[in-house]
Amino acid sequence: MHQKPEQLYLDLMKKTLSFTLWPEPPLPITTFYIRSPVKRFLVSAISKVLDKRKLLLVQKRDFSQSQRIEGRVWPVYADTMIGLKRLDNLQYCVETVLREGVEGHLIETGAWRGGACIFMRAVLAAYGIANRKVFVADSFEGLPKPDDRKYPADKGDKHHIHTYLAVSKEDVENNFRKYGLLDDQVVFLKGWFKDTLPNAPIEKLSILRLDGDMYGSTMESLEYLYPKLSNGGFCIIDDYALRGCQMAVDDYRSKHQINSEMKEIDWTGRYWRKE
Ligand SMILES: C[S@@+](CC[C@H](N)C(=O)[O-])C[C@H]1O[C@@H](n2cnc3c(N)ncnc32)[C@H](O)[C@@H]1O
Repeated sequence: MHQKPEQLYLDLMKKTLSFTLWPEPPLPITTFYIRSPVKRFLVSAISKVLDKRKLLLVQKRDFSQSQRIEGRVWPVYADTMIGLKRLDNLQYCVETVLREGVEGHLIETGAWRGGACIFMRAVLAAYGIANRKVFVADSFEGLPKPDDRKYPADKGDKHHIHTYLAVSKEDVENNFRKYGLLDDQVVFLKGWFKDTLPNAPIEKLSILRLDGDMYGSTMESLEYLYPKLSNGGFCIIDDYALRGCQMAVDDYRSKHQINSEMKEIDWTGRYWRKE
């Protein structure tokens, strides 16, 4: 065993935050929005009856370990859905900016249960870094309805109907607390990105992690925050497999003539280093 204590701690954090140490449990059937009104009504009625008997209707899901490692599933208990490969990438990026002294704070736009942000705070803690903050930007009420006049690429986007993606700020704070990582180095930016990001109290960033799924959410994060990213800082894209996100990234890069090589993390994660 040659690993240093900080590496052992961060490895355990990644496995715990992604819940990959344990098998994926069955999914309570009411977790996701059910499209068919008849099915929705039946499930709701049956669930109410079962609930009185302290029983729960669940759906068995046999995801492979590789699907979970690659963050291809919406998990039941995990505090992050980004999977181990994207957590490894996040660790690499944060460790690189710390080692090379690239100035600036760390932010994720789109935090859900907070897992990726908790992990960034854990990396700072592991290396005793006290002069950088982790910004956690989220509505804490899920995704916005698409504004298709402003962002035609989001027309028909259905992310906003998923209550599963709405996690309250209190729940996210509690998640940080569970790991002993809630302190004044964690700053919450609560609200829609279009309202919180333009005047966010951030001068410089070294890590800009985007996980807002939609064209508008991705574009707003880039427009308001990319200019604050230091040279040598990392821009990480979680949702390049989603058409809207991909279009926003490609549009922004071409509009601002960003030619830094965009590297692949996994089936959906991409990142580049600002030059
Ligand atoms: C896929 S989840 C993020 C997953 C998370 N990074 C993780 O580690 O598991 C997307 C999140 O983005 C937030 N979000 C998306 N667009 C937003 C917007 N325009 N303003 C505020 N929050 C937004 C949602 O509330 C949701 O929590």
